[in-house]
Amino acid sequence: MIIAVDGPAASGKGTVARALALHFMLPYLDTGLLYRATGLQCLRHGGDPSNEAEAKAATGFSDAMMDDLEIRSEAASRAASVVSAHPAVRQALLERQVDFATQPGGAVLDGRDIGTVIAPHAEAKLFVTASPETRAKRRFAQLVGEGSKVAYDHVLTDILARDERDSSRSAAPLKRADDAALLETDDLNVQQSIAAAIALVGGVS
Ligand code: C5P
Repeated sequence: MIIAVDGPAASGKGTVARALALHFMLPYLDTGLLYRATGLQCLRHGGDPSNEAEAKAATGFSDAMMDDLEIRSEAASRAASVVSAHPAVRQALLERQVDFATQPGGAVLDGRDIGTVIAPHAEAKLFVTASPETRAKRRFAQLVGEGSKVAYDHVLTDILARDERDSSRSAAPLKRADDAALLETDDLNVQQSIAAAIALVGGVS
């Protein structure tokens, strides 16, 4: 069984996808890491993430990059969002994701275009979302918890900008697949979100 989990930044899709992988005992790939590694590699090599050729060259990052703590930084996150708009970057990262999705026994992947591009025939598709304000509050709490002195308004502006970039790009924009179940997490805590996701996937598997 392939489970495709898509949704905007800080929607809870990663938490839900990891829990689904544990519950259904399937391997899990956070595809955002591939774009973050590309963005970070590009920055480290002095490249410009908005330059398609320089961004594509950065898709040759080493596997160790995926475990680099800096991959979670706001700089890597912003660079990921910029490099991910280039068709050449998406193409270069496609095969790795399709191979992961189609391995024998199935897999769980989360990202922006899993249900639409990477695994359009996935047995189960979820689109996890929440309002920009809810997502900004979560990201803000997380950053404050990590000791960061960021302002809430700044976090909200960043989320809105990322939504706009991810949804308006022409290459594989963030979009709910027609056959994806919608999971809105505004009024759900983590446990409730996970339970709802398991129930939705269980209903189709
Ligand atoms: O999910 P995460 O926030 O780690 O993703 C980082 C960035 O990578 C996103 O803002 C998005 O622009 C891009 N991305 C993408 N397609 C995916 C996963 C992530 O374009 N499948």
